[in-house]
Amino acid sequence: MYAKFHSIGAFVPSKILSNEDLEKMVDTSDEWILKRTGIKERRIADDDEVTSDMATKASNIAIKRAGLNKEDIDLIVCATVTPDYFNMPSTACVVADKIGIKNVQAFDISAACSGFVYALSVAKAFIESGMKKHVLIIGAEKFSSIVDYTDRATCILFGDGAGAAVISATDNKDEAIIDVHASADGSYADFLVTPAPGSVHPVSQKVIDEGLNFVQMKGNETFKLAVKTLTKDVKDILAENNIESKDIPHFVPHQANYRIIKAVGDALKMTEEQVVVTVGKYGNTSAASIPMAINDIYESGRLKRGELMLLDTFGGGLTWASALLPFAGDSFKE
Ligand code: UT7
Repeated sequence: MYAKFHSIGAFVPSKILSNEDLEKMVDTSDEWILKRTGIKERRIADDDEVTSDMATKASNIAIKRAGLNKEDIDLIVCATVTPDYFNMPSTACVVADKIGIKNVQAFDISAACSGFVYALSVAKAFIESGMKKHVLIIGAEKFSSIVDYTDRATCILFGDGAGAAVISATDNKDEAIIDVHASADGSYADFLVTPAPGSVHPVSQKVIDEGLNFVQMKGNETFKLAVKTLTKDVKDILAENNIESKDIPHFVPHQANYRIIKAVGDALKMTEEQVVVTVGKYGNTSAASIPMAINDIYESGRLKRGELMLLDTFGGGLTWASALLPFAGDSFKE
């Protein structure tokens, strides 16, 4: 039994936070943000729009596009670092209820920006082992809920959104996911961290006073390690599977910073047409970044059945992951 990437869906909040808006909030400029990150604007969820709401909307689209009924889903894996609750119930359980699926295995995984590709590796393993047939994987973030909008080093980067995919069993090797790499190095844990709430810092006055509930990032160090690690990881996955970068029509990297995307794309000798770039309009949406980017090329008619995608991502943990797979769904026609 093989696993195939059966469908994609996404939800993007309507509210836009532009660089010009940020200029009024912190000491920054549109010019600095564009030059250093490639970001022009990002989407911010409404106060009453939580991670599971965005995840549910993306999931319903993905299930419909797979031509399935919600009852066909036998596992839900939600990747997020901005869950509805710290830490129960899982956002996957809330999403199952909001979609209206009873008696389904559902859990979250925490791998920051690498979460969606980690979830893909879990879905692939469950399906290849014969345990599940249709796995709903989600990357969803309300990152604005952990961003300090007085910290110019982080608040210019992140946005909200959700993406989802259905991974299904198939006996046709031609449409199967070819390979997924996923790895981590916890010795760099302090590069990207939300210190509280957790067992290290339970909620207290100190947490509030020191803003320990907000994301902290060693941006420059993370940047350099991201370029080095990602370049090696994508070169490895291509070599191990005897595929050349010129044969990949869609390179879908994590959308953290255009300069990282460009450096890795150049190292692979990818053309502009091959590299998918959405960071300018969505910013960094962490686990949602890759499925939102796949959905973008799908809905613009660029992604067709059978075409190869190369995914790569890097995030808090530190974690990183890459995947090589054909798109195995119907072409967009809505
Ligand atoms: O998704 C998970 C993985 N995350 C990433 O991969 C993020 C990786 N990091 C980055 O994208 C970049 O490091 C940043 C965009 C966060 C920062 O860019 P940088 O080129 O690494 O800048 P820097 O941190 O070295 O800062 C350069 C200067 C500093 O000023 P001085 O010390 O040179 O006077 C900063 O204070 O830029 C200043 N700066 C800003 N200036 C205007 C930092 N943030 C801002 C800002 N506006 N928003």
